[in-house]
Amino acid sequence: MTLLQLKDWSASWWTMLQLESAKWSFLLCLGISILICSVIYLKGKPYAQSPLHRSLSCRPFPENCKVLPPTTTYTSWERTECQNFSYFNGPLNCSHMQHKFHFIMKTLSKEEEDYPLAFIITIHKDLEMFVRLLRAIYAPHNVYCIHVDAKAPKDYRVSVERLADCFPNVFLSSVSETVTYAGFSRLKADINCMEDLVKAPVKWKKVINLCGQDFPVMSNLELVWYMQDEEWIDNNMTPGIKQPTYMRYRTEIQHKEVTGQYVVALSKSHKKTPAPHNLEIYFGTAYYSLKREFVEYVLNSTVAKVLLEWSRDTYSPDEHYWVTLNHVKEAPGSKVEGGWEGNIRAIKWSDQKGTAHQGCNGRYVRDICIYSVEDVPWIIEKNSMFANKFESTSFPDALDCLEQWHRHKVLQQAKVPIQSSWKLAREIKIRNATISV
Ligand SMILES: *[C@@H]1O[C@H](CO)[C@@H](O)[C@H](O)[C@H]1NC(C)=O
Ligand SMILES: *[C@@H]1O[C@H](CO)[C@@H](O)[C@H](O)[C@H]1NC(C)=O
Ligand SMILES: *[C@@H]1O[C@H](CO)[C@@H](O)[C@H](O)[C@H]1NC(C)=O
Ligand SMILES: *[C@@H]1O[C@H](CO)[C@@H](O)[C@H](O)[C@H]1NC(C)=O
Repeated sequence: MTLLQLKDWSASWWTMLQLESAKWSFLLCLGISILICSVIYLKGKPYAQSPLHRSLSCRPFPENCKVLPPTTTYTSWERTECQNFSYFNGPLNCSHMQHKFHFIMKTLSKEEEDYPLAFIITIHKDLEMFVRLLRAIYAPHNVYCIHVDAKAPKDYRVSVERLADCFPNVFLSSVSETVTYAGFSRLKADINCMEDLVKAPVKWKKVINLCGQDFPVMSNLELVWYMQDEEWIDNNMTPGIKQPTYMRYRTEIQHKEVTGQYVVALSKSHKKTPAPHNLEIYFGTAYYSLKREFVEYVLNSTVAKVLLEWSRDTYSPDEHYWVTLNHVKEAPGSKVEGGWEGNIRAIKWSDQKGTAHQGCNGRYVRDICIYSVEDVPWIIEKNSMFANKFESTSFPDALDCLEQWHRHKVLQQAKVPIQSSWKLAREIKIRNATISV
């Protein structure tokens, strides 16, 4: 080996050594980093779940709730909403209840105050779901008519009454129906509430109907904007179309409501007369937003009253009554050319899988999806007025997730100072921001 070769060799050996040591320091660095990260992670983890920091009855937010507002690396959301709904089993201290259950007892903007809404909510079970729905849509300047099914358990009704008695603008309908799925009673329940709502002191502009398994996507302020946008300010929203042929049996053959159970078609010989006043029957959703003047028309006009009587022995009359009347030229706010437009509900129908949605992550009941938390991003993207359906028992995570997303938005939009009891979650520290090794 010449000197030059030796120099060359030692240089390359030296380079190799350098490379080798760089590799080793890299690996060492990586190892230390992994160690530090694990320590931080393990330290952060039990801290976040420590029972000292969270009451045991309080469910944490589901990990796959992807829509919560962002937090810092060192914080996360903790639900402050950990109530036991047995609270409503006894007499209520109203101010305590409103505080404990996070009701917003102030009007959040002038815009909302200037456009009061009326709500009809038909319920028969799941008190927790009802309380959470009511507190999501409650505003002191609106008015709420609650129709409790006449066949609901007595203690359920009493609990709803106690709750309603805590608010001057929430009341139970003066007449209760025994509601049958797809029956006339379902339609009648809404009309009972309308009779009460037109007598209420609140000068509401539009009425919106809900069932106990709905939950809002829009805030009250967004509802007020939507109701006043160009397309809807002068019109009722009753998404639907001319009755398709395969739906004709619903109004061509007489049906019988077996009270509180089901609706049956009578034999083919029990044909119904054509619809009164030459009305063309439409078919659509049972959900609507209606102008006050339209509701007065429903309650007073001969056409509306005769159509109501004619609908008594039809199948699921709430799916033709509103949309049919909303195509009558004389009806205030009618939309005679109207079709399916109106973003009234996000619903995953089983037969719309692959078209309107990519499947239900919860489970289907009567062809409608009961949402799980994985469905929440789809619901939010749809940005309908409300989403249907939720259950507080089978998929509680979905409601926890959407509820916090909704409340956070409501508070962000508020034009008045926020009270801490209005929040459903707080941002807690999960690990220390400064790390010393
Ligand atoms: C709620 O309270 C009732 C009685 O006050 C009790 O029996 C029930 O176990 C409680 N439920 C939870 C989940 O803590
Ligand atoms: C109701 O609860 C409030 C606290 O929220 C309390 O100050 C008040 O004394 C209670 N009233 C009654 C009658 O217990
Ligand atoms: C319609 O009904 C409302 C309330 O039910 C009432 O105030 C109003 O005067 C009625 N209008 C007509 C034209 O009968
Ligand atoms: C965070 O820092 C405080 C004070 O600096 C210390 O008492 C606490 O133990 C630390 N907590 C964690 C999880 O490192």
